[in-house]
Amino acid sequence: MHSSEIAIKAEHISKCYRLGLKEDLHDTFGVSVWNFLKSPLRNFQKYRSLYNFDDMQTSQDNSSSDVLWALKDVSFEVKVGEVVGIIGFNGAGKSTLLKILSRITPPTTGKAFIRGKVCSLLEVGTGFHPDLTGRENVYLNGTILGMRKKEIDGKFDEIVDFSGVEKFLDTPVKRYSSGMRVRLAFAVAAHLDPEILLIDEVLAVGDAKFQKKCLNKMQDVSQQGRTVLFVSHNMPSISRLCPRTILLSTGGVMADGPTHEILDVYLQHEKSSKAERVWQDLDSAPGDDVVRLRAMRVKTHDGQVTDNVDINQPVGIEMEYEILKPRDMLLIYFQVVNEEDIVLFQSFETDTLTQIGPFKPGWYVSTAWIPGNFLGEGVLFVSPRIKSHWAESHVHERKVVGFQVSSSLESDYFSANFYPKRYGVVRPLLKWETQFSPIEKRVVAESMIGRGGI
Ligand SMILES: Nc1ncnc2c1ncn2[C@@H]1O[C@H](COP(=O)(O)OP(=O)(O)OP(=O)(O)O)[C@@H](O)[C@H]1O
Ligand SMILES: [Mg+2]
Repeated sequence: MHSSEIAIKAEHISKCYRLGLKEDLHDTFGVSVWNFLKSPLRNFQKYRSLYNFDDMQTSQDNSSSDVLWALKDVSFEVKVGEVVGIIGFNGAGKSTLLKILSRITPPTTGKAFIRGKVCSLLEVGTGFHPDLTGRENVYLNGTILGMRKKEIDGKFDEIVDFSGVEKFLDTPVKRYSSGMRVRLAFAVAAHLDPEILLIDEVLAVGDAKFQKKCLNKMQDVSQQGRTVLFVSHNMPSISRLCPRTILLSTGGVMADGPTHEILDVYLQHEKSSKAERVWQDLDSAPGDDVVRLRAMRVKTHDGQVTDNVDINQPVGIEMEYEILKPRDMLLIYFQVVNEEDIVLFQSFETDTLTQIGPFKPGWYVSTAWIPGNFLGEGVLFVSPRIKSHWAESHVHERKVVGFQVSSSLESDYFSANFYPKRYGVVRPLLKWETQFSPIEKRVVAESMIGRGGI
């Protein structure tokens, strides 16, 4: 193929999901089909409502409360041999885009064109059949990619060797850990010479050594003129592998160009996240006809909104919400994530309250206190969630507020726990105990072990 030929073309792709269905749905096509077969009626109804968008396709009504536009009018082209990074905050639509390109899910509107043999490596182990063994899955995947058995035979040892899971080759994949599944999936994808490789976050799993191996392999693959789309939150890998990057933001293409320029835009965007968000207008507030999130704040112990918290001080996370319809039970909670998108923890309103609900219509303000000397230094974000107990999701926002935890020199210097720089996402002050024994006693103890033992 000539290098200026187009390998991937996205034309005004939009994708709409109905809210409240996500929890029950499985992302992989295989699992969906299996569930579909297992309980026909329930699934039939669900699928019908999922794919019945007639009411919206005409208006593309973004404000409609029970639907979510995961992608909105996304267009771009990728030439044969290009290696393109796809970045964006959680929920930006990156995985949805790859799922559409690999035909796991159809776009609601718009079209995707792909020319060439595609191999996609989406969320952990997609495309693997859980009941088949590792060995069988290698053949199955290869066949799906249009390889003949002989071709797979020829590469089999190399694949297994790369994956490092040879001991488990004859074990069904459902018994694999997620790390093992990713190893095998990556090994297959990288060795079967697809013309187009779609990779989602694969490097987030696996140890550092395997991640490095994957990156090297991807570099090889891209140097062989393959077309690669690579979704990642790992900016160093993106800048190392991809000359071009597309930044997605709330379902749209926010920027597309040389990677170093796009990373600047992304980092600017990330910094602008603030310690307070208020939605004055009910209709634009996150939520639905049951409950709406009206404000969210990060506060100091004396109630000041702040985006810079001293490491020794408690931090209050305040959620202000308006309940519009009575509910017996609502789960009010949030998760705290760091810059690498690692979830540090989740906290639920039900954790310490003894009497919860019923929830009458009205305004509520709930505050959770994170103790001082718990979070490590760094930038953190809070993602609020509100659900009914039957897992119906009302509010599901990502990184609504952000703050920085820092240690001021004075506060640390004058306390007994002074130590300037520490690694880790948490920095608890643990209770230490140290026992002392004089050297002579210790020497005797060791020599006794030596003699008595072996
Ligand atoms: N099956 C689904 N049903 C309903 N909503 C969905 C479904 N899959 C994704 N969404 C929603 O679509 C939006 C885009 O999700 P997507 O998984 O594509 O984001 P992402 O950019 O891959 O995020 P992350 O960085 O967290 O992987 C999110 O708001 C998500 O909650
Ligand atoms: Mg994703």
